[in-house]
Amino acid sequence: MHHPFGIDFGGTGIKGAPVDLERGDFTHDRVRIDTPKPASPEAVADVFQQIVDSFPASSSPVGVTVPGIVQRGVVLSAANIDKSWMGEDADAIFTKALGREVHVVNDADAAGLAEVEYGAAKGRRGLVMVITLGTGIGSAMIFDGRLVPNSEMGHLELDGAVAETRAATSAREREGLSWEAWSERLTAYFRHLERLFTPDLFVVGGGVSKSWESFGHLIEVDTEIVPATLQNRAGIVGAALVAQRKAGTED
Ligand code: BGC
Repeated sequence: MHHPFGIDFGGTGIKGAPVDLERGDFTHDRVRIDTPKPASPEAVADVFQQIVDSFPASSSPVGVTVPGIVQRGVVLSAANIDKSWMGEDADAIFTKALGREVHVVNDADAAGLAEVEYGAAKGRRGLVMVITLGTGIGSAMIFDGRLVPNSEMGHLELDGAVAETRAATSAREREGLSWEAWSERLTAYFRHLERLFTPDLFVVGGGVSKSWESFGHLIEVDTEIVPATLQNRAGIVGAALVAQRKAGTED
């Protein structure tokens, strides 16, 4: 059985593993390599190759998360990654480099799909908004199980600033905010989303979701709000899911 491969491409580390889509989990322990500096597409492709080569040979498709807007394989924004990615056809570059079909997908969209398929929003209908809190704020909008890609809710304006610059985990760390002070900003942010979209469920992801007990109860919204459950597996699992779904298509 050939399992699709998922790669989570982050600012500090690149991690990958084959994924068993029946279980929504890795078939082997994931491999992690530091993100090269600068993280140009070519340098990153070398790391992908090393990661893929750490596992038994396979020709199954590879999915890769990218922290930016991705349309039909082309990276259209790069707020927190090397600017050399802008306008690049990442699918084509990586497919050529790895000799396997590669599909890139926005990191939050991948994580969101994984949460809806296997995690905190499994089986949920209606509008699910998955918000990832990290260096930036990522979002996935999923209605009745179908993703509306590239929603970019981290770039909404909040109190006159781009929301992620005030409410991402990086803002909490940079400004040394207490859980309470940070949660006030998160409340304002989630209330704004609530007013605009009336979602049925918010799922909060990103590394900080493992500290949910410290701040989850401090976010005051009317919509049901829960922590993500796949945590650091979500990106890899979601990327593999996308690769499998897109395999053989032009998307
Ligand atoms: C980017 C998004 C990304 C998010 C999380 C934002 O700055 O614009 O595309 O999903 O960060 O990495």
